[in-house]
Amino acid sequence: MPERGVTRRTPIRALLATAEPGRPVEATGWIKTARFSKNVSFVHLFDGSGVRTVQVVLTAEQAERHRAEVGLGAAVRVTGKWVPSPGGKQDYEIAAEAFEVIGHSDPSAYPLQKKRTSLEHLRTIAHLRPRTNTFQSVFRVRNALSWQIHRYFQERGFLWIHTPIIASSDCEGAGDLFEVRAGDDPQGFFGRQTYLAVSGQIEVESYAQAFSDVYTFGPTFRAEDSNTKRHAAEFWMVEPEIAFADLDDVIALAEDFIRTVARETLAQCPDDFDFFSQWIEKGVADEILEIVSKPFARVTYAEAQEILQQSGRDFEFPVGWGASMQAEHERFLAEEHFRGPVFVTDYPIEQKAFYMRVNEDGRTAAATDLLVPRLGEIIGGSQREERLEVLDQQIERFNLPKEEYWWYRDLRRFGSVQHGGFGLGLERMLMWLTGMKNIRDVIPFPRTPGNAEF
Ligand code: 4AD
Repeated sequence: MPERGVTRRTPIRALLATAEPGRPVEATGWIKTARFSKNVSFVHLFDGSGVRTVQVVLTAEQAERHRAEVGLGAAVRVTGKWVPSPGGKQDYEIAAEAFEVIGHSDPSAYPLQKKRTSLEHLRTIAHLRPRTNTFQSVFRVRNALSWQIHRYFQERGFLWIHTPIIASSDCEGAGDLFEVRAGDDPQGFFGRQTYLAVSGQIEVESYAQAFSDVYTFGPTFRAEDSNTKRHAAEFWMVEPEIAFADLDDVIALAEDFIRTVARETLAQCPDDFDFFSQWIEKGVADEILEIVSKPFARVTYAEAQEILQQSGRDFEFPVGWGASMQAEHERFLAEEHFRGPVFVTDYPIEQKAFYMRVNEDGRTAAATDLLVPRLGEIIGGSQREERLEVLDQQIERFNLPKEEYWWYRDLRRFGSVQHGGFGLGLERMLMWLTGMKNIRDVIPFPRTPGNAEF
C-alpha cells in the first residue's frame, strides 16, 4: 500500500497509517455515519482504501453550521489536525478546522439508510452497493485476487495472451453461446457466425505451442439458462496452458497455483478477511489457511462414484459409473469425504469436451475438476489430445464440423507435443475465499438470466 496517492489526495488508509498528534491532515471521502450531539459531533468517512473509516470531530459551532448538509452518502473534504481519540475505537481522530461538502446527498432519499441491508435488496441498487462494508471488502479482494493471479504467472515466466472475445468456435461444445452480429444477417459482418467467447482455451493452445507457458485471463460468456448461485452469463476465467506437460503436470500446477494465490490474497487484505471471518462465514480465513497448508486429495471419477454409492446418502441425482457429477455429489466429496480440495480425474469421454486426451482404456479422458468445500467445482482442466488421428475420431464422435477445426488440427501436424491446462472461475474462487454465497454478489454488475439492468 503506497504511503500516499499519486494525486494530491492522500488515501484514508495512508492517512491513518501516518497519523500522529498535531500533524495537519486533509481527508476526502463519503459520509458513512454521522452522530450529532450538543457538544461534539462525529462523522465517519470512507474512501475505499481500507476497512477502517476515519473519525472526524466537529465542534458544536461547526456542527450547527453544517448539520443540514451532512447527509449519509455526501462527499466531503476535511482539513484539520490529528488528535488522540478518547473513545478508544481508534487511536486518533481528525479535529476539523475546515469542513466542506463537495457532493450533497439528501439523507431522507439516500437508499443505503439502514445499518444492515439484505444482499438481495442491495442487488437492486447495484450502483450504490459498493459503498457498503460488505461490497467494499468483496471488491478489494476481487482486485487483490486478480493481481495475485497475474503475479503468480508473471513471476513464473508465463506469457499473458489476449485471446479474442469475439470467437468463431464453441470451444466447450456445450452449445450455450451468445451470438454476435451486426444487423440482421448473422454472418454479415465477419462473413461467418461468431459468438462471445465461452473460453479462450482453443486459441491459447496455439500460443502454448509457441511460448510453452502461457495464460489467458478475461471475461467469458455462457448462455446457460441455469439460475443457480454459482453460474453467471458473464464471468471471468483464468486459463493457463503448458506445453511438454501431461495431466500430472497440470494438476501440480493447479494445486500450487491455488495454494499460493489463496495465501497471497489473504496476506494482501488482512482487514477484509477479518471482516468476512466475522460477518460472512465464521472463521473463513483460518479455514482457507488450514486447507492450503495440506496436500489436496486426488481420486478418479470411477473411485469417486464408488465412494458416492457407498456413502449411504440419499442423493437427489443418480450415482454410479456414467452418472454426471452434480453439485450435491461434488460437495459431499469435498466437504464430507475428503474434507478438503480434491482433484477428480479420468471422467467418461462423453461427459467432457472433444479436445481432452483419450486415455489408454479408450473410455475415459485425461480430464480433471477441482472440487472444494462449500462450493464444489472451481477448476476444470485436462491434458489435450495431441494425436491427430485420435483428435479426428473425437471430432467425429462429438459431431463437430471438421473443416472448422482446420487450424486446431494443424497444431497436431506441425510440432505437436503433449500439453494441457485448466480454467479457474474467478468468481468461484472469490466465493470460496470470502464465504460469499451468491455469484451475483462478487461481480460488480452481474449478468444472469433476466438480469442486466445496470
Ligand atoms: O470447466 P470449464 O467449462 O472449463 C473450460 O472452459 C476449459 N476451457 C478450461 C481449460 O481447460 N482451459 O470452466 C472452467 C471453470 C469452472 O470450473 C468454473 O469455475 C468456471 O470456469 N465456470 C463458471 N463460473 C461462473 N459461471 C459459469 N456459468 C461458469 N461456467 C464455468
